[in-house]
Amino acid sequence: MTAQDGPQARVVAIDGPAGTGKSSVSRRLAQRVGAQYLDTGAMYRAASLGVLRAGISPDDEAAVAELVGGLLIDLHDGEDETVVLLDGQDVSSAIRDDEVTGAVSAVAANPRVREQMVELQRRVGTGRFVVVEGRDIGTVVFPAAGLKVFLTATPEARADRRHRQNLASGRDSDPAAVLASVNRRDHLDSTRAASPLRRAEDAVEFDTSDLTLEQVLDGLTELVERRIGVRR
Ligand code: DC
Repeated sequence: MTAQDGPQARVVAIDGPAGTGKSSVSRRLAQRVGAQYLDTGAMYRAASLGVLRAGISPDDEAAVAELVGGLLIDLHDGEDETVVLLDGQDVSSAIRDDEVTGAVSAVAANPRVREQMVELQRRVGTGRFVVVEGRDIGTVVFPAAGLKVFLTATPEARADRRHRQNLASGRDSDPAAVLASVNRRDHLDSTRAASPLRRAEDAVEFDTSDLTLEQVLDGLTELVERRIGVRR
């Protein structure tokens, strides 16, 4: 069996740092080509919410790993976003709270949590036509994915997007502080011991700095059609 006809042949792996438009691109690409969509960041966020609700410190590695092992995390494609269930309760909105965003880096750096999440992701994606979005999808979770994409954009372009999002949602935003935060997150994500963010050697790198969402989608749709084929 070759990678072209293996159980990961119809997996589209999309990795890259925050602020590259990864979530919008992945969700819309899945809709366009008729694939399922799996947002793995939402899984780490749901795990982090469970940790916070249990009153456990995100840095307590052993307690976090044990708690997360007992959580029931379930994801469904919703109309506009992924519906995330934590122990049967819809937490799609709660996982985007600042408190969760503050805790998720520590939880996602926990090697035992990563093992559990990777297993769950493989169970959901293997054998399916699915767009999977994350940080380690092409390198660790689905190394034989039919198509691997690494989205990039300059730190300035990513900070600018985040700054505009902040203003659009009525939040205060200082461009210099946003850029510093983007650089700090990049450093943390790419230097952590467990599955640091890096481009898989066979991933197609796509720089979104000067492209619109539609332009990125057009490029990726063509790649999916060429590499995987689209069943309509
Ligand atoms: O993409 P996001 O902001 O929703 O991701 C939330 C956090 O989870 C972020 O800190 C990176 C981490 N993450 C990860 O380590 N591995 C993944 N496959 C997906 C997300």
